[in-house]
Amino acid sequence: PRPILLTRHGESQDNVRGRIGGDTAISERGELYSKKLANFVGKRLKSDRAASIWTSTLQRTILTATPIVGFPKIQWRALDEINAGVCDGMTYEEIKKNMPEEYESRKKDKLRYRYPRGESYLDVIQRLEPVIIELERQRAPVVVISHQAVLRALYAYFADRPLKEVPHIEMPLHTIIEIQMGVTGVQEKRYKLMD
Ligand code: F6P
Repeated sequence: PRPILLTRHGESQDNVRGRIGGDTAISERGELYSKKLANFVGKRLKSDRAASIWTSTLQRTILTATPIVGFPKIQWRALDEINAGVCDGMTYEEIKKNMPEEYESRKKDKLRYRYPRGESYLDVIQRLEPVIIELERQRAPVVVISHQAVLRALYAYFADRPLKEVPHIEMPLHTIIEIQMGVTGVQEKRYKLMD
């Protein structure tokens, strides 16, 4: 069996400021994670020349992958974070204050709520279909460096979690979720590399 390693990017400048969306670089802590991740991946997959690293097209995932060397890297737009539309770049407090109806609708139905000019979780789940098909086709290990909402959706698929849970799955920073698909089902391990 070959592993799929799922991880969010290292902490970004926007994570520090509590802003959603955007395309900022990673923080110093995020850089530290990128090095720890590279070290982990190097050890875990060292002998596997067919392994590959998949990122989104956003800076924070590309920068997180930078210290990983010796494996091909592929950028997928489908791995980009949920598009927050008109709320992109705002904090949750700002949304609550300036667009209270939007805030409430999302709270009521986070799975179906679509940001104005943006996406819903259901939209994200749909656009991930080609990524999932390709992931299942791969025989070699894949490291997926992506974002909170996208990884919730991917993880839910492999861990067979119900749709309604997807937006609420815990997906911490600086943690690798390793998934192995074997005859007995899906096995999962977590590696928290730092806080
Ligand atoms: O805050 C980081 C982030 O990746 C945002 O860019 C994104 O909008 C959010 O998480 C998704 O999480 P939630 O659906 O819980 O708002």
